[in-house]
Amino acid sequence: MAGIRLDKYLADAGAGTRSQVKEKIRKGKVTVNGQPAKKPELKVDPASDVVEAEGIRFTFQKNRYYMLNKPGGCVSATEDASERTVLELLPANIRRGLFPVGRLDKDTEGLLLLTDDGPLAHRLLSPKKHVEKTYCARVEGSLGPEDVKAFAAGLDIGDEKPALPAKLQICGETDGICQVLITVSEGRYHQVKRMVAARGGRVIWLKRLSMGPLTLDERLAPGQYRKLTQEEMRLLGLDADGG
Ligand code: URA
Repeated sequence: MAGIRLDKYLADAGAGTRSQVKEKIRKGKVTVNGQPAKKPELKVDPASDVVEAEGIRFTFQKNRYYMLNKPGGCVSATEDASERTVLELLPANIRRGLFPVGRLDKDTEGLLLLTDDGPLAHRLLSPKKHVEKTYCARVEGSLGPEDVKAFAAGLDIGDEKPALPAKLQICGETDGICQVLITVSEGRYHQVKRMVAARGGRVIWLKRLSMGPLTLDERLAPGQYRKLTQEEMRLLGLDADGG
């Protein structure tokens, strides 16, 4: 039988660390197909065996996917010598093997996908795929219809090539601060801040609302995360088992 060790299966499915899971197995809290399983090394078949720990069924996912509402003040990296990373917002047993799909600046908030699925990350980040990302920004300075046109035409932001056409939507202005939505289909360094700067404004707050088919779950407070739903996985072209 194609099999995975029971303790690995449960740890990968999020039931706890490997040692916590072993303890649960030893205490008889784990069943396979309804029968108590006492050996962590027991092989289970993810396709056909029903594994439960403390009465909760754990299904095996080839890959893991989490939506994070990134707060300001942490860096989009797996490790950093001096800064807090986005992965430190997750407990150690969940964070293992995950990485952020792309980077948001340290002060940028909002949607960040965390996964261990390299090919998916490549699909979402590849410059050839033009995956759309929408940001909400507060901008110091005034933006108007001429700026909407300039964004749509493709702005010169000081790189070799101008930025691809982008969508600027002006939502309102109060006390010299303009609130806008900006949709880009590239991921250049500081892209939104540089586009706004190219039109004489300054981004003072930035939050990513969507990336491709994924939209930030506004029920997630900054710093909170959750697993992607089956529908979100489907929108990303993934099977429910992460394949
Ligand atoms: N554009 C920026 O300028 N910063 C981000 O974090 C994301 C997009």
